[in-house]
Amino acid sequence: MAQLNLLLLLKLSLIILVAVSCVSGKHFRAAKLGAKNRLMPTKVDPGSINDSQQYEVYNYTQTLDHFNFNPESYTTFQQRYVVDSKYWGGPTNSSPIFLYTGEETNIMGDVKFVGFVRVLASRFKGLVVYIEHRYYGTSMPFGSKDEAYKNASTLGYFTSEQALADYAQIIIDVKKNMSAENCPVIAIGASYGGMLASWFRMKYPHAAYGALAVSAPILYFMGLTPENGYASIVSTDWNSTSTTCYNTIRESWFEIDRVAAQPQGLSSLSQMFNTCMPLNTTQDLKYNLEGIYDVLAQYDNPKDNYLQTFCNATGEKTYILDKIMAGVRAIYGTICNDIYDMSFNKDFGWDWQSCTEMVMPMGQGENDTMFQANPFDLDEYTKECQQVFGVTPRPYWAPIEFGGYGIKTVLEKFASNIIFSNGLRDPYSSGGVLQNISDTVVAISTQEGHHCLDIATPDATDPDWLVEQRNTEINIIEGWLSKYTVPSAN
Ligand SMILES: *[C@@H]1O[C@H](CO)[C@@H](O)[C@H](O)[C@H]1NC(C)=O
Ligand SMILES: *[C@@H]1O[C@H](CO)[C@@H](O)[C@H](O)[C@H]1NC(C)=O
Ligand SMILES: *[C@@H]1O[C@H](CO)[C@@H](O)[C@H](O)[C@H]1NC(C)=O
Ligand SMILES: *[C@@H]1O[C@H](CO)[C@@H](O)[C@H](O)[C@H]1NC(C)=O
Ligand SMILES: *[C@@H]1O[C@H](CO)[C@@H](O)[C@H](O)[C@H]1NC(C)=O
Ligand SMILES: *[C@@H]1O[C@H](CO)[C@@H](O)[C@H](O)[C@H]1NC(C)=O
Ligand SMILES: *[C@@H]1O[C@H](CO)[C@@H](O)[C@H](O)[C@H]1NC(C)=O
Ligand SMILES: *[C@@H]1O[C@H](CO)[C@@H](O)[C@H](O)[C@H]1NC(C)=O
Ligand SMILES: *[C@@H]1O[C@H](CO)[C@@H](O)[C@H](O)[C@H]1NC(C)=O
Repeated sequence: MAQLNLLLLLKLSLIILVAVSCVSGKHFRAAKLGAKNRLMPTKVDPGSINDSQQYEVYNYTQTLDHFNFNPESYTTFQQRYVVDSKYWGGPTNSSPIFLYTGEETNIMGDVKFVGFVRVLASRFKGLVVYIEHRYYGTSMPFGSKDEAYKNASTLGYFTSEQALADYAQIIIDVKKNMSAENCPVIAIGASYGGMLASWFRMKYPHAAYGALAVSAPILYFMGLTPENGYASIVSTDWNSTSTTCYNTIRESWFEIDRVAAQPQGLSSLSQMFNTCMPLNTTQDLKYNLEGIYDVLAQYDNPKDNYLQTFCNATGEKTYILDKIMAGVRAIYGTICNDIYDMSFNKDFGWDWQSCTEMVMPMGQGENDTMFQANPFDLDEYTKECQQVFGVTPRPYWAPIEFGGYGIKTVLEKFASNIIFSNGLRDPYSSGGVLQNISDTVVAISTQEGHHCLDIATPDATDPDWLVEQRNTEINIIEGWLSKYTVPSAN
């Protein structure tokens, strides 16, 4: 998920809000989830929530460390959550509670964007509780982001296991306070938040009766998904938009290298690409372009049509790098292009997560995508994490903690009530669950969809396949709710 770094919230993004992290001058690809925001073409102010929405913002006094009883673990911090009770049918008739499992971003942006959650609430008279993930937004241990992000000791409590425990703690407490202990909880999340929603259902079945996991790449871990899964869907997206355009991109890397090798090559490239600051390395330029192709493919929703817009513009020029620049300009405008440092950054929460548990191996070989070869290199990745955070990644931990190997065989025997929804043009769908596992653990995919589209606010211009995907999700959840029975003491 995108890095969720939040600096700039992106449209749709929700999770989009997930920012993307980009890497420069490194030999590995940055964590895509967190950092994309920087390259998202449309920025949205998270403060501009629609005032006619009804919700209350609260803080919860949360335990720092749920998993041991050392004195420091009793430290608390203020964790933000938002309650929308506009549609709530009240505790007496088992109206559902939708628990939005926040991902790597400020929760207020999500409250605005994930309008499908409100649709579910209105349909089922549900209460919505959006919970911000620890170490994002205002939910900072140790009083401030500066303190929380100071070093590996203060960041050590920043894990998805702690986040899931936070969600359990808050939702169980909210239910108690509202005398809603008998109401079913459905966890919902998107991208990394979707991974959390599905894991929450599996790890805390007494706290969540079902989960809708939108665009959740729970299989993008070591040995589960080919490392070029992400880049190969990006490539397919561009190729299916226009093979000419795809070839332009594929060949442009060699032309960039050729120009760079000339005298004053870097300064020519800086001019050609109208960079705000002179380029220091060719790799910086390449990683930024790669980031642009990635993010446009990830969020190529029907309204924005980024790929087609880019590709149309490339047709107006003859020289290959002018074509690329025309495409970039068609999306980002004529302003100068910021060149982001795509390496891990100690201020980005998703980078910490990527350097500890969320090691998603991404790379590509020669000629297996439209990018130059850049295989995932765990040693380089580890070195960079040690340098930036003073921490050594545990790349095999996530599949040990959350599973993934033989997922069908495992889940069909014990899991229930989970929807994994995906758009198959979303590069992250390469690490998603795309097969039906049982009657109630189902994959709802669309051929045409991109990242997190179905959880966004529905709109009159939505294509039929998207309307249908959401309706299928509503019908499945309705089926679960119709079978709900209040847990009894025996
Ligand atoms: C705010 O929400 C109301 C009711 O849901 C809607 O009618 C209105 O168009 C929204 N305004 C904006 C700016 O989104
Ligand atoms: C929640 O806590 C944060 C950080 O301590 C604080 O800035 C904010 O004002 C609090 N919000 C509420 C609603 O109490
Ligand atoms: C982090 O900072 C705290 C407070 O300054 C210090 O006690 C601790 O040893 C530091 N941890 C690391 C890993 O540097
Ligand atoms: C529940 O009520 C208690 C006592 O009023 C309060 O301290 C706590 O924060 C409330 N919890 C939630 C999740 O609202
Ligand atoms: C690109 O698309 C064309 C036309 O659909 C197809 O023939 C070709 O195999 C595709 N190339 C790649 C590398 O996917
Ligand atoms: C190149 O390096 C200089 C000095 O470190 C820096 O100020 C500038 O931003 C860098 N240029 C780019 C495009 O990153
Ligand atoms: C791209 O060009 C085609 C052919 O000229 C046109 O039909 C289409 O509307 C254009 N699409 C975009 C998004 O600009
Ligand atoms: C990749 O493609 C190029 C150009 O088509 C070719 O020269 C090169 O041998 C290919 N490399 C591999 C490993 O197949
Ligand atoms: C999984 O089952 C649902 C119905 O329960 C169906 O709508 C969907 O198409 C199936 N998905 C796959 C990948 O077969």
